[in-house]
Amino acid sequence: MTDKDLQKKQAAEAALQYIKPNMIVGLGTGSTVSYFLEALAKADINIVGVTTSQVTSQHCAELNIPIVDIDEVDHIDVTVDGADEVDTYLNGIKGGGAALLMEKIVAKNSNENIWIVDESKVHATLGSFPLPIEVIPYGNGQLFRQFTDRGFFPKLRRQANGDPLVTDAGHYIIDCHLNNINNPYALAEYLEGQVGVVEHGLFLNICDRVIIGGETVTIKERQ
Ligand code: A5P
Repeated sequence: MTDKDLQKKQAAEAALQYIKPNMIVGLGTGSTVSYFLEALAKADINIVGVTTSQVTSQHCAELNIPIVDIDEVDHIDVTVDGADEVDTYLNGIKGGGAALLMEKIVAKNSNENIWIVDESKVHATLGSFPLPIEVIPYGNGQLFRQFTDRGFFPKLRRQANGDPLVTDAGHYIIDCHLNNINNPYALAEYLEGQVGVVEHGLFLNICDRVIIGGETVTIKERQ
């Protein structure tokens, strides 16, 4: 196991302390969440999960973690998810695993959001990880041109065979190589105003607590 994987596992296992019996738990997507699902199954805590992707639903089925459809619950107690990048304000970029839309829906409907990450994800400002933007396939080329003109250095995410990657909800993803996002709030507002943009990977004022794996696990709370 690499150092990074070990840190992901440490963070995932530390998140278990926030999971209590009978909770409805939002379950994110990605390799760090996979470690969390394995720890959760092993701990055998009686919870029900609300998943954020087909991949996570499949993993839950393999581990016998019960799940329900998001519209069958009236609340979600806590969501545990990974992140691609986290800044000092606990804002972040998500969507590297193409699950940002459902992740944001689940997160916005959760009483508490916990992110589990390895140390390499923590940066003073966001932008070194390309920002995923989920778009409607129709007219995606127009958005692409617009993002190019704005200096976003966009790249349409593709599958190994060269076809555009299609998300669980049937959309495309344009990854924008921004390097340094000085004002994530202004960028989010601009993106939310563009027709054809379904959702973007800026998760602002959503994460309540980040658990960072490492020699000693660090837990930071949003002020
Ligand atoms: C999925 O779309 C993403 O938001 C993931 O949560 C993020 O990419 C973290 O993934 P890893 O845990 O695999 O690094």
